[in-house]
Amino acid sequence: MVPESIRIIHEEHAALSAMLQSLRMMVQRGPGDAPEQYFDVLRAMLFYIDEFPERLHHTKESELLFPPVRARAPHLQEALDRLDRDHAHGERAVRELQHLLLAWELLGESRRSAFEMAVLRYLDFYLEHMKLEETVVLPEAQKVLTAQDWATLDAAFASNSDPLTARYPRDPVYDRLFTRIVMRAPAPIGVGAG
Ligand SMILES: [Fe+2]
Ligand SMILES: [Fe+2]
Repeated sequence: MVPESIRIIHEEHAALSAMLQSLRMMVQRGPGDAPEQYFDVLRAMLFYIDEFPERLHHTKESELLFPPVRARAPHLQEALDRLDRDHAHGERAVRELQHLLLAWELLGESRRSAFEMAVLRYLDFYLEHMKLEETVVLPEAQKVLTAQDWATLDAAFASNSDPLTARYPRDPVYDRLFTRIVMRAPAPIGVGAG
């Protein structure tokens, strides 16, 4: 049986992957004749990524899941070090994207390619990151963690908050923001009027 914590991580990866794919499609299509809506939706997407995965998802991994895996699977140390570094770097990267987007919106076309190139780099970085977690860390965690480890993790994940630091308790506002982005993004990404 798949532990609840692993199920939650997979679920959050799926929601995040959907958001990243939408972001890629938006960037590939460009603003067209509706720049206002385009910048609005992109801004909301980057804000969501900054608020939700960067703070809640990464915290669960780096502070709750990775430490017991590190203790019981020393051969994963290199992979876990890299993932922890990615988590630290991701927050800076997504803030930088928000700045580059504003530069394009407020200063014009000359700043467009800097944003587009940075977004594509970020998407590749992030997809690679989740792939390493899904193909290496999660399967190994299922092998090496004990029933007691899972009971502790599941209890922490169930409230979707971090009992170690009591930071960032889950708030349904993130689900509402995710839905709102999907409702506003134009087809085929979302269901909003394009
Ligand atoms: Fe991660
Ligand atoms: Fe993750």
